[in-house]
Amino acid sequence: MAVAPATPPPLARRLRDAQLLRTDLFVDGAWAEAADGRRFDVRDPASGEVVASVAAGTRDDARRALEAAARSLPAWSALPAKERSAVLRRWFEAIVDAADDLAAILTAEQGKPLGEARAEVLYGASFVEWYAEEAKRVYGETIPANTADRRMLVLRQPIGVCAAITPWNFPTAMITRKAGPALAAGCTMVVKPASATPLSALALAELASRVGLPDGVFSVVPGAASVVAEELVTSPLVRKVTFTGSTEVGKALMERCAGSVKKVSLELGGNAPLIVFDDADLDVAVEGAIASKFRNTGQTCVCANRLLVQEGIHDRFVERLADAVAELRVGNGFDDGVDQGPLIDRAAVEKVEEHVRDAVDHGAVVVCGGRPHELGGCFYEPTVLRGVTPEMRIAHEETFGPVAPVFRFASEDEAVELANATPYGLAAYVFTRDVARVWRVSEALEAGVVAVNTGIFSYEGAPFGGVKESGIGREGSHHGIAEFLEIKYVCLGAIDRDSSRGA
Ligand code: SIN
Repeated sequence: MAVAPATPPPLARRLRDAQLLRTDLFVDGAWAEAADGRRFDVRDPASGEVVASVAAGTRDDARRALEAAARSLPAWSALPAKERSAVLRRWFEAIVDAADDLAAILTAEQGKPLGEARAEVLYGASFVEWYAEEAKRVYGETIPANTADRRMLVLRQPIGVCAAITPWNFPTAMITRKAGPALAAGCTMVVKPASATPLSALALAELASRVGLPDGVFSVVPGAASVVAEELVTSPLVRKVTFTGSTEVGKALMERCAGSVKKVSLELGGNAPLIVFDDADLDVAVEGAIASKFRNTGQTCVCANRLLVQEGIHDRFVERLADAVAELRVGNGFDDGVDQGPLIDRAAVEKVEEHVRDAVDHGAVVVCGGRPHELGGCFYEPTVLRGVTPEMRIAHEETFGPVAPVFRFASEDEAVELANATPYGLAAYVFTRDVARVWRVSEALEAGVVAVNTGIFSYEGAPFGGVKESGIGREGSHHGIAEFLEIKYVCLGAIDRDSSRGA
């Protein structure tokens, strides 16, 4: 059912605190125009209207931010962990207090429904809270030495200046999931947010400066990837690059980082299988499939991309899924009762259209949806396809849209083989009531995350990340902070000598 798009008033008027709507660069603790004065437009994907005009950082701006990050590093990393923790805790509280405004900014630039945007803001805040606590638990080690006159220990120290290149699908949470652990570890960071969604990043910077994060510790430089990101990945000042985005771009960044042997964390594309076995609870499976597939209009790296359904439950599952999908309300994220907002841009809609067309041309059947939505623009109907087979494009490319393609399988072995038949390995979902099968299949799936009988698994205390071409490293949990720490082995010799005697 369609909800007519409202004409939104200018974003600032929606906000309780209009100062959160920042449009300049945040460099070294201050707001600044781009060095060459250029700006770019940020558009609301629901209406196509310009939400704000944002400073487009230059290489010089990015360099300035990195130099500030390098200058502030010694003092920030030397601060007792408890004090870094206290600043991060204040940042967390400020984000939570401003959640309604941050959600409105997020919906205006990204399109997701306001409730979902608010949930993202709180999810984003949870990383800052969690790592504020974890800052105090960066422990070293002692090692039993190999000789009597030695002592051996391991220090864990901040890597140094970090650069984060972040995506538009989670404009808040993908920044805090990187900045939280980096800052807690004692690193400093420069963020280049996606050009579609810089406003959420700049609002986070405004809050960071209000809570007393020292100048230079956290800078935000929006701008073209070929300009700002290029400086970040090639600068000798940067020791670590953390990126969320496509596998294609991740590979290119990794190559650029090789020049100065930077460490990298990459959260890349996925092609998540969602397997429903005959013995699954049908209600749980349908609910999980909707949650996983249609969250954020199908635009998450962990959205189910292929629904593999065993033949005994297949027809009932497809019918129930299609009934539930047909109930999803599509519209402007600011309108009440909307479940699904627009896609991010026209190119995203075109990719979805191509995948559906290709599947239908090769024999798939549209059970519901299957067309651009009557609202036009970037809206697409929530869609279910049946009769999907591995030859179709939708089977091996990430659709990143609201399309649930259903495949049929006969045996457990076939399901695992189909699931793993992809170069990606981020998330996988399994629906079954057989505990032995839960173990067998979870162990056999090539994925960084396996969710069993649920479509939602993200949590700040659990490790998120992929295997194969889905990435390197983990975010969230104590593994997430390890990504921003170096290990230093200290070997202390001659401790049996009394050095005062030689004097
Ligand atoms: C992503 O799509 O990369 C993030 C999804 C999540 O954190 O749940």
